[in-house]
Amino acid sequence: MELTDLVRLFAEPVDLAVVLTDVDLERPGPTVLYANPAFARMSGYAPADLVGGTPRILQGPDTNREATRHLPRLLRAEGRFLGCLRNYRRDGEEYLCEIDVRPILDRDGAPQAYIAFEREVVRRRGRPAEGGTRRYRPTVQSPLPLVGSGMPIFA
Ligand SMILES: Cc1cc2nc3c(=O)[nH]c(=O)nc-3n(C[C@H](O)[C@H](O)[C@H](O)COP(=O)(O)O)c2cc1C
Repeated sequence: MELTDLVRLFAEPVDLAVVLTDVDLERPGPTVLYANPAFARMSGYAPADLVGGTPRILQGPDTNREATRHLPRLLRAEGRFLGCLRNYRRDGEEYLCEIDVRPILDRDGAPQAYIAFEREVVRRRGRPAEGGTRRYRPTVQSPLPLVGSGMPIFA
């Protein structure tokens, strides 16, 4: 079974937004291979509008370019990007998005694809308690934290 079909099988009913891309991190890549219905609800784009295109479609005037440039760098260097980006929905409304991107590795440890788990968050008022990710909370309460450890990048 193709990787994209496998990801579709598990991600289709999941509430967390899931997007799968190919491994080409050089512009104009990466290319979206699959986006789940939760991703479509969050972004306002139909999966068919996303597949074959670039996740940059979600960027807008206030997207932090420093953070987006970090994304491919960290994926190459550390095999993970964990952070918060300012994304834009199809109707132009912006939203803060917590993004956890990892490679899917083949048997030899080479990336076959990248998968991102994304969810909308809001910035907490006041000073963060401990650890950067506490600065944000999900807009929809979920029993499990999306991110546990790692070095977060913030918009
Ligand atoms: C799986 C995956 C999901 C991504 N999701 C987003 C996203 O939601 N928002 C965003 O601004 N960039 C996202 N990106 C990053 C862009 O595709 C791109 O890599 C980034 O903008 C850096 O390239 P650039 O500096 O040439 O723009 C994602 C990348 C990958 C691999």
